[in-house]
Amino acid sequence: MNDLFARHRQVLPDWLALYYDEPLEITHGEGRHVWDADGNRYLDFFGGILTTMTAHALPEVTKAVSEQAGRIIHSSTLYLNRPMVELAERIAQLSGIPDARVFFTTSGTEANDTALLLATTYRRTNTILAMRNSYHGRSFSSVGITGNKGWSPTSLSPLQTLYVHGGVRTRGPFAELNDRDFIAACVDDLRDLLGHTRAPAALIAEPIQGVGGFTSPPDGLYAAFRKVLQEQGILWIADEVQTGWGRTGEHFWGWQAHGQSGPPDILTFAKGIGNGSSIGGVVARSEIMNCLDSNSISTFGGTQITMAAGLANLSYLLEHDLQGNARRVGGLLIERLRAVAAQLPGVREVRGRGLMIGIELVKPGTDEADPKSASAVLEAAREGGLLIGKGGGHNTSALRIAPPLSLTVAEAEEGAAILEQALRSAY
Ligand SMILES: Cc1ncc(COP(=O)(O)O)c(C=O)c1O
Repeated sequence: MNDLFARHRQVLPDWLALYYDEPLEITHGEGRHVWDADGNRYLDFFGGILTTMTAHALPEVTKAVSEQAGRIIHSSTLYLNRPMVELAERIAQLSGIPDARVFFTTSGTEANDTALLLATTYRRTNTILAMRNSYHGRSFSSVGITGNKGWSPTSLSPLQTLYVHGGVRTRGPFAELNDRDFIAACVDDLRDLLGHTRAPAALIAEPIQGVGGFTSPPDGLYAAFRKVLQEQGILWIADEVQTGWGRTGEHFWGWQAHGQSGPPDILTFAKGIGNGSSIGGVVARSEIMNCLDSNSISTFGGTQITMAAGLANLSYLLEHDLQGNARRVGGLLIERLRAVAAQLPGVREVRGRGLMIGIELVKPGTDEADPKSASAVLEAAREGGLLIGKGGGHNTSALRIAPPLSLTVAEAEEGAAILEQALRSAY
């Protein structure tokens, strides 16, 4: 066992899982590639869990961070902070939420925690609706809205959570229905649930479930839910931690696939905006954001160094139309992977949109999850020089593909060829 792995095991928690039988130490990156400590180069199709959004070592971000570091790294929210105000203005405008206020945190977990604090305070109830197979973070409150037992280490919770159907299109009791009937059945189920409980504070949902294996409902489900929720004043929180910033190609935010409903009441973000700098945040209309009647700060949230990274990264994303690139290159990639999958009995489904693509594996001839093969494909892809991720509520048997949004067509083709080899070696 390599020395660093042994030291990791000795000093870090057992539940902090590492990928690969022989875990990888990534020492540097450039563009869509990273290198390990032995000098091996990999095409990166996971971006440190969808976080390296534009590119590794993007000169524009590196320059902004180093210039900011040379001036001031942090001053706290007790003082005016120009980069924080600037990024808040840009995100407020991009969010589509009217009269929007933005609060910065340091992670997606803390962003969702804040959204829950706001919604439960505003609505004066601690009942929350969440989706089955969801993941929203690791804090005490966010594991209480996690509908995926593999990521929910305790049943204790400050919230009363009711789980709703609909986040997974092709499994569960409504899977056989067509899209329209699926939506109608989920709406009926929601109405039935609401009939048995006091009106909840909010529904929180990932437009495409990330940790859950890139599963999603048919477009329009959340718009249909919204109508029902609005009858009782229940808020809609869109967790855009994975789906934001154009990753899904067709839309800038994942909620826009359900756009008939207008924007959510609260939107949370993190991961990609900082390109690796720890930025999370919440956007909400001012009456919701301002409903807290005592102080609340985040010491590190919005610190100058992370805001400089976020501003430079966002500018690059918009100026280079990386959303359009995600749509075009992601479209080619998913088609290519579907063609490969059609020949492999162990691939149950290739799903997703833009550069957020899931491949669900099953034991051939069955509908049973196949986590062993998922691990084998992950290892084989690494051998071939490609890093991908895993996820899925059904025993982690979905492969997750989410490269930086600047992926080129040639890189998409190279990655698809390696993945094809890896899938063939597992079946
Ligand atoms: C949809 C979603 N929400 C929230 C989180 C939590 O974010 P963080 O790990 O930055 O706390 C994650 C992390 O994977 C996520 O995928």
